[in-house]
Amino acid sequence: MVARKAGIIVNIGSAAGAVPMAKWSVYSASKKYVSWLTATLRKEYGHQGIIFQTITPLMVATKMAGNPNTSFFCPDSDSFAKSALNTIGNSSDTTGYITHQLEYEMMNLAPEFILDMAVARSSAQLKEAALKKKEKSLLT
Ligand SMILES: NC(=O)c1ccc[n+]([C@@H]2O[C@H](COP(=O)([O-])OP(=O)(O)OC[C@H]3O[C@@H](n4cnc5c(N)ncnc54)[C@H](OP(=O)(O)O)[C@@H]3O)[C@@H](O)[C@H]2O)c1
Repeated sequence: MVARKAGIIVNIGSAAGAVPMAKWSVYSASKKYVSWLTATLRKEYGHQGIIFQTITPLMVATKMAGNPNTSFFCPDSDSFAKSALNTIGNSSDTTGYITHQLEYEMMNLAPEFILDMAVARSSAQLKEAALKKKEKSLLT
């Protein structure tokens, strides 16, 4: 890429890296690392014609997310990828999807204790659902 003076590197972070998330320490910290690494590489190589972008999605309906139903705030992976690809060259750090950007901006406006409460609530719900799923698979 340096020799060609052209290239695009897109790293996938997460909105989970935007705030310190209790009970998600490794995931949240590793996503912050992705954003920081990309920003640093941009400073090192950005002037050589290489585009560095971090995408920081919220919820996308994929296997990793537990295949939730799609909704206004939770697109399927194809719609998300199409939207995110359109942002290359326009934004170096973005959620990649319009409704995710809305959620992200709201997150930034909310006081941290509110975010902490929301994270604690959704983590507890996720844990309960995962334990139920595990229990069911052990019984069948
Ligand atoms: N979905 C969301 O809501 C969401 C939100 C924010 C950020 N992200 C980020 O988006 C990225 C993609 O996730 P996704 O939602 O698209 O999940 P996904 O559909 O489950 O895809 C994850 C991919 O990673 C592969 N993979 C998992 N563990 C691996 C390992 N140890 N070595 C090599 N490959 C491995 C999986 O391979 P197999 O198919 O073979 O298992 C799969 O292709 C992740 O970095 C995730 O943190 C996702």
